[in-house]
Amino acid sequence: MAQHQRDFKLIFPTVIQMTMIGDHEDLNAQLNREVDEVRDATPNGRPASWSCDVYTTISNNFLLHQRPGFRRLNALFIENAERYGRALDYPMDSYGVAMDMCWLNAYRRGQSQERHTHINYIFSGIYYLKAPPGASKLIIHAPTSDTMLVPKYLKRTKLNTPFMEVEPEEGMMLIFTGNLRHGVKVSDIEEERISISMNANLAQRRPS
Ligand SMILES: [Fe+2]
Repeated sequence: MAQHQRDFKLIFPTVIQMTMIGDHEDLNAQLNREVDEVRDATPNGRPASWSCDVYTTISNNFLLHQRPGFRRLNALFIENAERYGRALDYPMDSYGVAMDMCWLNAYRRGQSQERHTHINYIFSGIYYLKAPPGASKLIIHAPTSDTMLVPKYLKRTKLNTPFMEVEPEEGMMLIFTGNLRHGVKVSDIEEERISISMNANLAQRRPS
């Protein structure tokens, strides 16, 4: 390694867990039926404070994890959040993952999700149910991205990049901390892009 590379350290990592769920075709077939039922029964719950356009149940049907048809996805969210917690040395022997919210978002052409956080949550998760070719990317913003004056970079490198893009894939599950700012680029395809999101915290395990 060249001397100038050795001198520069990356500190305070931002950790995102990206997992492809095995056998997600069966899971998705079941979830697609459930999602159709939820959408039939749920008007758009887009909060008044949002400036973006998107179909979401975040404000009016956000306990999807309690539906029997979401049981397997719920278990996968918990399993993967626990894995994230163990990777970061959270005290997972004493605490379990307690899902608090689970909702869905559907994007048609021209729709997007503005930059936001899920404050007060140790874990946030996203599962991609429908991600057709060209589905809009998730943008994750570095925690420091707008807290400094920065010069105009000549190029993006791992030492200066203020955001990363994630190309969604059907069956992909992401876990990250709720304070991480993220959003979804404007959709420019006809087909729908559907994600299911969750927020969770740690809950102390009861002694057995
Ligand atoms: Fe989000």
